[in-house]
Amino acid sequence: LVAQPFYGLHQAGIVTPQPAASLYVAFDVLAERRGELPHLFRTLSERLAFLTQGGTVPDVHPQLPPRDSGILGPTVLPDNLTATLSVGASLFDYRFGLARARPRHLGPMERFSNDALDPAQCHGDLLIQFCSNTAETNIHALRDVLKATPGLLAPRWKIEGFLPPHVVKTMGADTVRNMLGFKDGTANLDVRDPRLMDRYVWVGPGQEEPAWAVGGSYQVVRIIRTLVERWDRTPLGEQEAIIGRHKGSGAPLKRGHERDVPDYAADPDGETVSLAAHIRLANPRLPGTEGSLILRRSYNYSRGLTAAGQLDMGLLFVCYQADLSAGFVTVQNRLSGEGLEEYIRPIGGGYFFALPGTPRPGNYLGDGLL
Ligand code: HEM
Repeated sequence: LVAQPFYGLHQAGIVTPQPAASLYVAFDVLAERRGELPHLFRTLSERLAFLTQGGTVPDVHPQLPPRDSGILGPTVLPDNLTATLSVGASLFDYRFGLARARPRHLGPMERFSNDALDPAQCHGDLLIQFCSNTAETNIHALRDVLKATPGLLAPRWKIEGFLPPHVVKTMGADTVRNMLGFKDGTANLDVRDPRLMDRYVWVGPGQEEPAWAVGGSYQVVRIIRTLVERWDRTPLGEQEAIIGRHKGSGAPLKRGHERDVPDYAADPDGETVSLAAHIRLANPRLPGTEGSLILRRSYNYSRGLTAAGQLDMGLLFVCYQADLSAGFVTVQNRLSGEGLEEYIRPIGGGYFFALPGTPRPGNYLGDGLL
């Protein structure tokens, strides 16, 4: 059972392979004074460092509550856990005097044209992204964090995501399918290329950002319901035209292999891949549009029924970028009005900033900000 490193230049959970289970929890900070924040962030770092590396939980006197929830047994195994801590725009409001330290593009998530945002599932002062091999490991970590931060944090919303378990075996090397049945992640940025990550994912020293933010990344979380009852009654040809890829192989339309790159220059009028297809709008591959590349790291979700009795499932869309406005916002604006909108409904999420990594024990996540 693998332990992902906790200390480093960048936090784990962004360019590390995606394990099968995820849990996203947004929090309101209950602390009232700036002076309480270092204690909060130090405590979070200590707990997350322990949880990701594992260890034995000390016994306590039976008249005291046990140190640990116990749901993983007496020894906590790392189970591939990463716990990535991000801050939301509201942390930089009047409460803590942090306004001048706010990352330049970090504001409340705006409402795009197809959005039906539920305020109870949006925004937050902090967000933790837990990813591991099992739902139990993520839930165990969340309960540990809550127990360690009484009076300081209140959960605001939470959602669990999953990927087919075979990705655990291939550690993300294979593309998985989303709830619409299409392969998702085919044309993503290659996380093994550090130059690409430095250009598109990590905030660098050359950007007009506060010095503390270097090594961090803008994180977008969007809870996007997919209207699967309607989708499942839509003809295959129409589904493929809306996405721009073949459903079975994942190849671009009229191509044979998933990894074939669509040649839009040879198809200027969209006869092969429609100009309104999801993949063509998301990445038109025209000179001048490279600046909008993003790193997607999404999960599927499924959680009961809506009030109308429909399946409540969809895509827990997550992406990372060095520049929120050049990345997600530009891509989402290009997608506005796409054919896929008839089958999807963004209902929650928010904009966050994943803190830079923390180099060693003694330092803590966010110490540069505070
Ligand atoms: C590609 C589905 C939302 C950005 C794709 C692909 C599928 C897909 C099937 C093709 C496979 C791949 O290259 O990964 C969906 C579904 C969505 C959704 C079902 C909502 C439920 C979004 C959102 C964004 C986005 C919100 C960003 C604002 C992209 C990008 C690509 C892509 C950048 C790669 C295009 C390329 O480089 O060719 N999506 N997507 N998608 N999607 Fe989405």
